[in-house]
Amino acid sequence: MRIVPIASGKGGVGKSMVAANLAVALGQAGRKTVLADLDLGASNLHLILGVAAPKAGIGTFLSASASGAGGAADFETVVLDTDYPNLRFIPGDAEVPGLANIKPSQKNQLVKRLLSVDADYLILDLGAGTGSNILDFFLMSTHGIVVTAPTLTATLNAYLFLKNAVFRLLYGAFGQKSRAFEHMEALRKDGASLRSAYIPSILEQVREIDPERWAIACERMARFRPRLLMNMLEDPKDAEKAQKIRRSCKEYLNIDIEHLGVLYRDEMQDVALGSRIPILRYKPQSVLSQGIYRVADKLVSSEDEEDMSLSLSEIEGGYRTAELEAEADFGAKVAYVEELLSSGALTQGDLVETVRSQQFEIDKLRRENQFLKYKLTKAMGQGFLG
Ligand SMILES: Nc1ncnc2c1ncn2[C@@H]1O[C@H](COP(=O)(O)OP(=O)(O)OP(=O)(O)O)[C@@H](O)[C@H]1O
Ligand SMILES: [Mg+2]
Repeated sequence: MRIVPIASGKGGVGKSMVAANLAVALGQAGRKTVLADLDLGASNLHLILGVAAPKAGIGTFLSASASGAGGAADFETVVLDTDYPNLRFIPGDAEVPGLANIKPSQKNQLVKRLLSVDADYLILDLGAGTGSNILDFFLMSTHGIVVTAPTLTATLNAYLFLKNAVFRLLYGAFGQKSRAFEHMEALRKDGASLRSAYIPSILEQVREIDPERWAIACERMARFRPRLLMNMLEDPKDAEKAQKIRRSCKEYLNIDIEHLGVLYRDEMQDVALGSRIPILRYKPQSVLSQGIYRVADKLVSSEDEEDMSLSLSEIEGGYRTAELEAEADFGAKVAYVEELLSSGALTQGDLVETVRSQQFEIDKLRRENQFLKYKLTKAMGQGFLG
């Protein structure tokens, strides 16, 4: 079974949209797929997937396991059939309070049950942030997906998420009561030195003091190959932002991340969500749906490679491909608007109106920016004189 956890660090970048649609696409591709809503405490995947409000979910299972029940049979009852081919769904339960803070023993129970489901693919929709549960779910696979968007905060959060994941992985590899572990703890207590410490230098230090644990950590790090998915693109140039995350990860974290591709922002997604139908079913021909199919294809075609590491040039190729895809999708989006125009579905007037309202927004932002600059210059001037 291939486990595909979907994380992001920052909230609202499209994890759940990707998780639901990717699961539908993999099911359509003939892969037995289970989609689990692990955004415990803020579950909403059933809305995107368009299934009726679930009566039971992971929350029910966890409550049962807390009270001594919660065996394999109980877990099977929360794995629901869907009307999508080859797709089953495990809802999360937003109703049960305190779910976001499940205890380690409950988490272990849950992981055990998840690992025992019968599927080719297990897709895990995770919550935002870098909580230890989220990191542990992410580390259930060496090939988790980090969804991000081209904004500065989203890319920074993607990097910080990966940084936290690497630290968690190292802690796990070192194991408690080892000298390597103690070294990490000493660093952690001295917050300043941890913040400035890069993984390559930490590993060098550990190599000196605990070569045995160092070797285990290196082996795990070498297999750790998270994949990036850039969502909400507006412009082909946005695709290049992935390179920045990759460079930081290489330099500071000692990991090389792959690029799974790009997905454009598509207004249709909001309409699909409002209608409680995944975009893949609502508008399979849309640029966004086609982008998701492309990601599913990449997963399916890399099934054999997953156990091997990709060569540097193959990873490079992924970034180049994503940039080309961004260009091609942009062309497809433009062609789509032209088609709407020529078919009369969208009038020239609508288009002019859209461009005008966008121009208005841009002008407004520009004015705000100028005002802020003015205030800043004034404040600096006062500070200087005072
Ligand atoms: N490519 C896209 N184009 C347009 N809208 C999108 C796209 N991707 C996601 N959205 C919209 O952005 C919003 C956030 O998406 P989603 O809920 O999937 O994010 P999330 O990362 O799971 O958020 P959270 O951290 O709250 O769980 C939703 O309204 C969704 O419909
Ligand atoms: Mg979500």
